[in-house]
Amino acid sequence: MTADDPIGVFDSGLGGLTVVRAIREALPSERLVYLGDTARVPYGTRSAHTILRYARGCARHLARDGIKLLVVACNTVSAVALPMLRVELDVPVLGVIGPGARAGVAATRSHRLGVIATPGTVASGAYPRAVASVSSRTEVFQRAAPLLVPLVEEGWTDGEVPRLVVDRYLEPLIAADIDSLVLGCTHYPLLADVIRDRVAAHSPHPVTVVDSAAATATELEELIGERGMARTGEGSLRLMVTDRPDQFADEAARFLGASLEGLTVEAIDL
Ligand code: DGL
Repeated sequence: MTADDPIGVFDSGLGGLTVVRAIREALPSERLVYLGDTARVPYGTRSAHTILRYARGCARHLARDGIKLLVVACNTVSAVALPMLRVELDVPVLGVIGPGARAGVAATRSHRLGVIATPGTVASGAYPRAVASVSSRTEVFQRAAPLLVPLVEEGWTDGEVPRLVVDRYLEPLIAADIDSLVLGCTHYPLLADVIRDRVAAHSPHPVTVVDSAAATATELEELIGERGMARTGEGSLRLMVTDRPDQFADEAARFLGASLEGLTVEAIDL
């Protein structure tokens, strides 16, 4: 593998484009190849067994294309399948949980850290484990927030409905007196404004909101720098999905924070 090879990124669907967005900002010279498993999204409500099977299919497809590194953009896959992928692939594999947990620990002063994520991520215990590996005194308070994924997919990222849903999910975390909150799901950065607004409305003190996508891009930059794998020149993005390539553009543009003009979307089968 060479520095010129692309970085593979995959997710259960389009949400991982929030991670691609952060990577493109941090590393504009890299070639990125993104696979969104739009045929089988969501993963967050599925069993660990099924998530492992789906993750293996996505990772193998990207690995066949000759990537220099794999980023698992999906929190649920990172929570459940990272050890398996690290054993099975012969390129470095970076997930989003470790970077999110480390950024959460760096942000908390009171050592009371909140995490919102899919039911699969919460059930795996991956965030509390990742936090415990870097800080023995930080307590983690988790909350599964399954309704936030369909809300974001519907484009309901402001107004009364997301406000009410976010309030309900955050209530026990604010009652636990957290001072930092990790957004442990690809979709949640699109609700960051509502989440910031609701914690400000209910918490007696400021709460730092930590985006695991941005934290992952920062660690990726460090990793490819350390390994001498950074590319120079103009970067690029190639997109692949397992279903609905024609309906991809609008939703993808919201996650990516940029238009898809000039990009082609390939339909693939796993
Ligand atoms: N990509 C998933 C995650 O970050 C959210 C969507 C899903 O449930 O597949 O956990």
